[in-house]
Amino acid sequence: MSLVTAANAAYLVAALLFILSLAGLSKHETARRGLSFGIFGMGIALIATVVLVLDHQPAPIGIILMVVAVGVGAGIGLMRARSVQMTEMPELIALLHSFVGLAAVLVGWNGYLDPELHGELEGSLLGIHYAEVFIGVFIGAVTLTGSIVAYLKLSAKMKSAPLVLPGKNLINVAILVAFVVLTVWFIISPALWMLVVVTILALVLGWHLVASIGGGDMPVVVSMLNSYSGWAAAATGFLLGNDLLIVTGALVGSSGAYLSYIMCKAMNRSFISVIMGGFGIEASSGEGKDHGEHTEIDVDAAAEILANASSVIIAPGYGMAVAQAQYPVADLTQTLRDRGVDVRFAVHPVAGRLPGHMNVLLAEAKVPYDIVLELDEINDDFADTDVVLVIGANDTVNPDAAEDPGSPIAGMPVLHVWEAENVIVFKRSMAAGYAGVQNPLFFRANSDMLFGDAKDRVGEILTAVRERQGANA
Ligand code: TAP
Repeated sequence: MSLVTAANAAYLVAALLFILSLAGLSKHETARRGLSFGIFGMGIALIATVVLVLDHQPAPIGIILMVVAVGVGAGIGLMRARSVQMTEMPELIALLHSFVGLAAVLVGWNGYLDPELHGELEGSLLGIHYAEVFIGVFIGAVTLTGSIVAYLKLSAKMKSAPLVLPGKNLINVAILVAFVVLTVWFIISPALWMLVVVTILALVLGWHLVASIGGGDMPVVVSMLNSYSGWAAAATGFLLGNDLLIVTGALVGSSGAYLSYIMCKAMNRSFISVIMGGFGIEASSGEGKDHGEHTEIDVDAAAEILANASSVIIAPGYGMAVAQAQYPVADLTQTLRDRGVDVRFAVHPVAGRLPGHMNVLLAEAKVPYDIVLELDEINDDFADTDVVLVIGANDTVNPDAAEDPGSPIAGMPVLHVWEAENVIVFKRSMAAGYAGVQNPLFFRANSDMLFGDAKDRVGEILTAVRERQGANA
């Protein structure tokens, strides 16, 4: 068997390992195994690719270029992966998607400019080649700028509020129509100016699509861009004649699209509306409303309320992750449970900045799995609960989502924390959450604000509860 045949067989094995990896990643218990399959598959794919490249270009310059590229890429990747905070993961992922988009654009342009890539093609095969070039460049450029805007929004370098240009839907539709017309024209008579125009149009479309989406819908956008990056990689695979890239790109593309669809359903959003850049979503009517006065509570009073409670639900959010408050939260949970209090956690599907963010933090702090419940499992229990501790959560506990049809987050399921007898909100200020909307919960009669860093405040409450326990013993 020649080395090339072996490398192609290795691609098949790698593709199977990627499928096993995705299957493993779908459950907590098998996620680690899934990751190992993925790493193993990627290792095989890299070696097979090196073999194929060397077969195609045995000159030392090819080897040197490849070693340098892999070395630099792996070095930067390792450094970033080691230093990135969990809360920065979505923005890093968004940035990485933009690289996939850029690669697709460059490969597409190369496919047009390099005569070696289409010199021997004729008739319909040549037409297919030009279609691949054009579509690959389009998807890649949309992914490139869309991901850059997502990165800027997620890292708070750009406002998370949606951009509402006059006739914004018309802009998107016009670009899509121009793309279809130009694709047909390009296949018939491929001219450089068309490639330039489609690149610019796609860059504008990517930018506009994501800029038009509000903060509350960003989780769906990140998974949508993940899907686009997969399709961009698949298009690159067609151009380079690389089967593994086609299979892997299609896996990423379809799983990303399915994840976006599931997330849209969970957040009660229209899938089409989100992929079309907030199509049909009007600007908020809720801002500037007078919510009245909020009330504050201090650590001792909060500890007193907890000491008298028999049921407590903790609703964690992004602020718990920022403060790294999961450890004192786990200790407080244990202390209250030891006193016979029923303590449970209510985890919203998009709490934090990436799916499963809260579950990972709570597992890290060794909170037992069986008291960590999903929104659907616990939402009816708030009305029978003595105290809810909202720890660094905001949008996910906003009653406007359920009660104000004009709110930008209207219709998104939220935790009904306001139905409990007492609600204590841990945050540092009255600032809005990620979606940029004010939260009327803070002004309700049964809610009190406990300002300050969540880790410090929970730690102080823990000490106060333990002191009370000691005094009563
Ligand atoms: P947010 O609505 O973002 O609210 C977090 C709150 O934590 C803020 O209001 C902030 O208020 C507070 N906070 C920050 N640092 C803190 C600290 N050190 N101590 C105490 N409080 C602190 O969070 P959420 O309720 O978890 O909702 C998640 C939001 O992110 C949703 O809008 C969701 O759509 C979006 N999003 C989610 C994802 C995924 S997939 N989960 C991805 C991207 C975006 P202060 O500044 O006043 O302290």
